[in-house]
Parts: sequence; structure tokens; C-alpha cells
Amino acid sequence: MATEMTAFVIESYGDPDVFERTTREVPEPAADELRVDVAASSLNPVDYKIRQGEIPDFTPEFPATLHCDVSGIVDAVGEDVEQFEPGDEVYGMPGGAGRQGALADYVVGHAGTFARAPESIPLEDAASLPVVALTAWELLTDKATVGIDDDLLVYGASGGVGHIGVQLGRWFGADVTATGSTEEKRDFAEKLGADHTVDYTATDVEAYVEEYADGDGFDVVFDPVGDDHLQTAFEAVRPFGAVVTTESSSTQDISALHANSLELGVVLVILPVLLGDRQARIGEELADIASLVDDGVVVPHVDERFAFEDVADAHRLGEAGDFRGKILLVNE
Ligand SMILES: NC(=O)c1ccc[n+]([C@@H]2O[C@H](COP(=O)([O-])OP(=O)(O)OC[C@H]3O[C@@H](n4cnc5c(N)ncnc54)[C@H](OP(=O)(O)O)[C@@H]3O)[C@@H](O)[C@H]2O)c1
Repeated sequence: MATEMTAFVIESYGDPDVFERTTREVPEPAADELRVDVAASSLNPVDYKIRQGEIPDFTPEFPATLHCDVSGIVDAVGEDVEQFEPGDEVYGMPGGAGRQGALADYVVGHAGTFARAPESIPLEDAASLPVVALTAWELLTDKATVGIDDDLLVYGASGGVGHIGVQLGRWFGADVTATGSTEEKRDFAEKLGADHTVDYTATDVEAYVEEYADGDGFDVVFDPVGDDHLQTAFEAVRPFGAVVTTESSSTQDISALHANSLELGVVLVILPVLLGDRQARIGEELADIASLVDDGVVVPHVDERFAFEDVADAHRLGEAGDFRGKILLVNE
């Protein structure tokens, strides 16, 4: 077994060219951890926000190996790990925030942050799922109840979280209205199963509430964007409805929560990794998500693939926002 591996790290914050190829020691798993031979990772906004220095509390120690999502083959298990063995194909969210991440030949992480990979898609593609699918799942199951024929509004529907949100909403039987800023993004949302699409850049909230939510308001508004979208969500939701979001660290007028007796649910999906606690919920949810993928309910859309050594190009594309679904990074 080699003692050294290739990793792509940042030594300081900066633009996408700050990534460096380096050699690190192959990490040893602790008693409750797995070591995974990395097949692929994917890009999430949290990865470039960490690289930019926007969320220093999430940054792994420098030199920092970034990226949260991973798929690969279990290479070694700690002495207390019973649910996995070497050779298992897994996917998970073991680090990349708070601890070293997946842009390397091997990653170690708490066994609870992994599950067996879906069998019906290539192992590499499974790395497109953890962060976005866990987030969409927690928004729509932990933070809201979405029932048959409920009116569900999905913002950012062509993005990573949104494209899974549309598919889950449809599976719950909701009437899904999806937003997209371009025709291409709206067409994509329709192909994912959205019943209606809205160009929110050219349509007032009252107009799409009137057209797709009987003028009363949506039962649930799914907001993976925050800021202006979160404020608009409070206008688009019906009295006693629910707004679920990934981003509430902005300043908002929350008087609508009181005026309309609303529920507000916020997800921080990486929290178990940051806390080093309650990791098992990640693995349990990923096991459910793998079943949904194998049943054809959830299909991850990989728009572009990059080799690890081209991580700077992947970050540039992600930050420009000119893609649909996910950007995959493959450990070639
Ligand atoms: N709290 C958590 O646990 C958690 C988990 C996952 C993601 N997130 C956050 O949720 C957000 C979405 O994640 P994602 O993976 O879906 O991202 P993504 O794949 O980049 O997609 C984001 C979508 O949001 C829309 N959008 C509207 N305004 C935007 C803006 N100012 N900047 C970027 N996108 C904008 C875009 O669609 P249109 O062009 O149609 O508007 C875009 O397709 C990110 O901020 C991410 O950090 C948080």
C-alpha cells in the first residue's frame, strides 16, 4: 500500500487558480471511520465559497483538500465499523468542510457519513448526489410536508438542489411550479417533471401565484437560493403554508411569518460533519436516496465532467452559473 497520494489543495484563499496539485500522506481511518479510494467528487457552491474565503469557519486546515461529495470504493475500515467492508461501493459527504475533503486519491470520514452507492448509475455519477440530494430531501421531508396535489414552488429549479427538489416534489404528487432565469433552464425543469415553469426575472410574484396557486399562495415554497428569493417566498406562500430554505443568514423582513402564520424551515446539511456528531442521519438519508435512484424516482443530471486536475475550470463554470444540474469531478 502506497503511503503517499495525490491531492488538490489550497494553501490560501483566492480565485480558481489557487488550487495546487500536491502529495499528501494517505490518511489512516480512526476507529469509527472509513478510508475510501476516491472515484469522483462534484462541485457544490460551498466548495467555491470556502475557496473564496467567504466561510472561513468551514475551511479545513491549510493546506486544505476541498470538496464535500464523494463516491468510491471502501479501502480500509476502522476497528469499530461494522456496516462496511473493503470493496464496498459507497457514496457520501465525509468532509470538505470542517475536515479534509475528497479532491484526493483517498478520503477518510465517519462511517455514518456514507451509504452504499446506487446500483443503477455509474459509481462516478453517484458523487453528483450527496450534498444536493440530502439538502432537497431534508427540505421536503424534515422541514415541510408535501402532499398529493399540493402546490409546490421550486426556486433555482435547474441548479443542483433544485433539480432534485423538482423530482422529489413530483414523486410526492405535488403540482410543481419551477423557476428558471433562461428558456434552457425552464425547459430542463419541465423535462425533470415540473408541471409549470416561470421566468421569475420577467413575472411578478402575484402573477404566478394567480396562475399556478389559485391566487391563494403555494402550500410550500422551496428556496435553495436565499436573499431576494427568500423575501419573495414569503409573498408567494399561502396563509399557514411553509417556506423551506438553505440560506437564512441574510437580513429579511419576517413580519409575513406572523401575519400569515407561516412555518420557516432551514437546512444546514453539512452540520453533522462540522459538529462531528449525529453523522448517522447522513448515511441513513443517503440509503433512502440510493433506493429512490434505483427506483428511477431521482435521476441526477451531470452537465459537465472534469478531471481533478482541471478543478479550476470546474469552479469557473460553477461560479458563472452556466450549467444545469451538476458538475462532476473525476479522479482520473
Ligand atoms: N444550507 C445548506 O445546507 C445548503 C446545501 C446545499 C446548497 N446550499 C446553497 O444553496 C444554493 C444553491 O445550491 P445549488 O447547488 O443548487 O447551486 P447551483 O447548482 O449553482 O444552482 C443555483 C441556482 O440558483 C439560481 N440563482 C438565483 N440567484 C442566484 C445567485 N445570485 N447565485 C447563484 N445562483 C442563483 C440559479 O437559477 P436561475 O438562473 O434560474 O435563477 C441557479 O441555477 C447555494 O447558495 C448553496 O451554497 C446550501
